[in-house]
Amino acid sequence: MRQPYVAGNWKMYKTVAEAVSLATELADGLKHSRNKLMVAPPFTALSAVGAALTGSGILLGAQNMAAELEGAHTGEISVRMLKDLGVRVVIIGHSERRHVYHESDELINQKVRLALTEGMEVILCVGETLDEREAGEVERVVGTQLQAGLSGVELGSLEQVTIAYEPVWAIGTGKTATPADADAVHQYIRRWFSETYGSDTALSMIVQYGGSVKPGNIAALMNMENIDGALVGGASLKAETFLPISRFND
Ligand code: 13P
Repeated sequence: MRQPYVAGNWKMYKTVAEAVSLATELADGLKHSRNKLMVAPPFTALSAVGAALTGSGILLGAQNMAAELEGAHTGEISVRMLKDLGVRVVIIGHSERRHVYHESDELINQKVRLALTEGMEVILCVGETLDEREAGEVERVVGTQLQAGLSGVELGSLEQVTIAYEPVWAIGTGKTATPADADAVHQYIRRWFSETYGSDTALSMIVQYGGSVKPGNIAALMNMENIDGALVGGASLKAETFLPISRFND
């Protein structure tokens, strides 16, 4: 019922030539996929990667966008500039944006609403730190991030929204949440949607897991009832690891 959705977040890696080379390998290797697929290269490689992905079915994604449509915002990239390059999906509220660049829930919400109004798909990232997990605060933290991040978002726009649960302590650390631990949070996320938007919406929401996803753990994660896909960092940077992850159900 829910189509598996595997996305690669390339973060601040790859020159244009390196990005095109990887995109070309992925386009070739994933031509016949029945999964929804996306890659988010750095801004500088969006145009060239978009060209390399033409006809492949892999969606072009961006890792962030400005909260304003245009104006005097030195160094920012607007949603219309992204659409102009063929970007269809934008990752908003990634933990590195929240924790390293201090993006607030309010700013993230402004970006989410602007992206949706402009017809963009959004991957909204949520997840707790290790301290928050150890303090038993996972549901409170994730619930607050959902509530604030989606404030003012109408039911009708939710088909443009994917949630990525990325526990901060599992990102880039090699520590993956166990499939059961991840699924428990995914189940909570679905319950939050059920209480906020209704049970039909809760059942149709795609909830990705992110944090040290690799070829060796994707199948066990995807086997869980409430895990519908993956947002992959490090292992999305090489075809030899991203191809088997994307093809986990072949
Ligand atoms: P890693 O897969 O490198 O842990 O990164 C996850 C992530 O942050 C994806 O957005």
